[in-house]
Amino acid sequence: MARQFFVGGNFKMNPVTRDQKKALIKILNDATVDQNVEVVISPPALYLIPVKDSLRSDFKVAAQNCYVKDSGAFTGEISPRQLVDAGVPYVILGHSERRTLFGETSKLVADKTQAAIAAGLSVILCVGETLEEREAGKTKQVVEAQLTPVVAALKEADWSKVVVAYEPVWAIGTGKVATSAQAQEAHADIRAYLASAVSSAVAEGTRIIYGGSVNAGNCKELGSQKDVDGFLVGGASLKPEFVNIVNAKQA
Ligand code: PGA
Repeated sequence: MARQFFVGGNFKMNPVTRDQKKALIKILNDATVDQNVEVVISPPALYLIPVKDSLRSDFKVAAQNCYVKDSGAFTGEISPRQLVDAGVPYVILGHSERRTLFGETSKLVADKTQAAIAAGLSVILCVGETLEEREAGKTKQVVEAQLTPVVAALKEADWSKVVVAYEPVWAIGTGKVATSAQAQEAHADIRAYLASAVSSAVAEGTRIIYGGSVNAGNCKELGSQKDVDGFLVGGASLKPEFVNIVNAKQA
């Protein structure tokens, strides 16, 4: 079965006013988009419910993070069950900003992934290497080390709930996009790893999306690569050009 193209918009800690948030949602609601694409918008947690309630019904929402427990004394955290109860279908886990700024380890990311899926969420699981690691020729090794605890934590059937986002850290928010050849190589390596570590069916069925300075100008070429099944978009998801990125596969 063909993998459905997936485009996520990661607003990060933007915008800073509710008026700006409303204006962004209006742009999305008014747009004409390719109906073959799964579109998932990820606003700050504070806005998840109002965005879900005001967003067009063919787009979904995602949280940008969640905790590993269902409830309890974990000040400042949101649980997977709370997200499910709020009608939020997706969560982004393991984003490089969570890993580097907030110290999340690959083991914690794997435990969160397992907890999220157990609660009924789907997960956008982010992996990717730093510039130093790429220059040392360690991209494949680093990404596999990030995926290994997830493979250990999940059952084979759980992978139908996972979208892997390959996001080279050096390309995030820098304007320095990976070449389509670099993206294709990393995605093919991830797929080969899933084939050997999980199963060939999971490797074939799992969407692997690219993130890192995707914009209206580079999305068509990136999206034409065999193993690139969509995008996770940061900066450009706050602009009208996000619509062009959603429509990247259209002629
Ligand atoms: P960017 O961010 O598109 O601004 O590079 C991508 C991401 O962090 O998901």
